[in-house]
Amino acid sequence: MNNSIIKKAAEYVRSIQIKADESGHDWHHTERVWLNTKYLATKIECNTELAELGALFHDIADAKFHNGDETIGAALTKEWLENQFYDKEKIDTVVFIVDHVSFRKKYKPNPKTHPELSVVQDADRLDAMGAIGIARAFSYGGYKQRPLYTANFKEASSTIGHFYEKLLTLYKLMNTEPAKELAKERHDFMVSFLEQFQKDILPIKYLG
Ligand code: ADP
Ligand code: NI
Repeated sequence: MNNSIIKKAAEYVRSIQIKADESGHDWHHTERVWLNTKYLATKIECNTELAELGALFHDIADAKFHNGDETIGAALTKEWLENQFYDKEKIDTVVFIVDHVSFRKKYKPNPKTHPELSVVQDADRLDAMGAIGIARAFSYGGYKQRPLYTANFKEASSTIGHFYEKLLTLYKLMNTEPAKELAKERHDFMVSFLEQFQKDILPIKYLG
């Protein structure tokens, strides 16, 4: 890593996020999103430095822990980059990523006009899929004291319900082709996990 702004940003974000966060937004999540962003950014026409900075700052302040305030993450990002005397136009791009990446905001970027946001959003969503996505979902469910599943399997109030509400929809929402390729395996893995889960809780249906 020879790019000093990225190195500095990674150290800053790490120092804030390294304290364990059961809701799934700890430093290790950011590091995975950063690594997947780096990979995806090499596969499309994209400013890698801006995408990497967007990935590093994307969860710097989760609204869930700031009384629902959705603006804090972008404000912190802007302030930090300004303190580094980073280029104003570049700051705008990074802040735009932080402001629009979240699943909740349902912003669908065009990879041609917003390639950096497109790859960061894809990388963030990839991390909610596959084995890691399953682990994060149950970690979040435990943190929120939610049941593993309810009688109505697809009801959103349980962690299993969250797969139907969100996780199984992510594959089709990928912005870029390289992300879609990575998402396929993770999606299929979640589908087999749910099949096995159903078998495990209703063995009679299959054995009888
Ligand atoms: P984002 O940061 O992309 O907006 P969230 O904050 O909603 O995403 O989710 C962070 C992590 O917690 C993800 O892995 C997500 O799947 C998981 N998660 C969010 N809501 C739930 C839920 N109701 N049940 C289980 N897992 C959840
Ligand atoms: Ni995230």
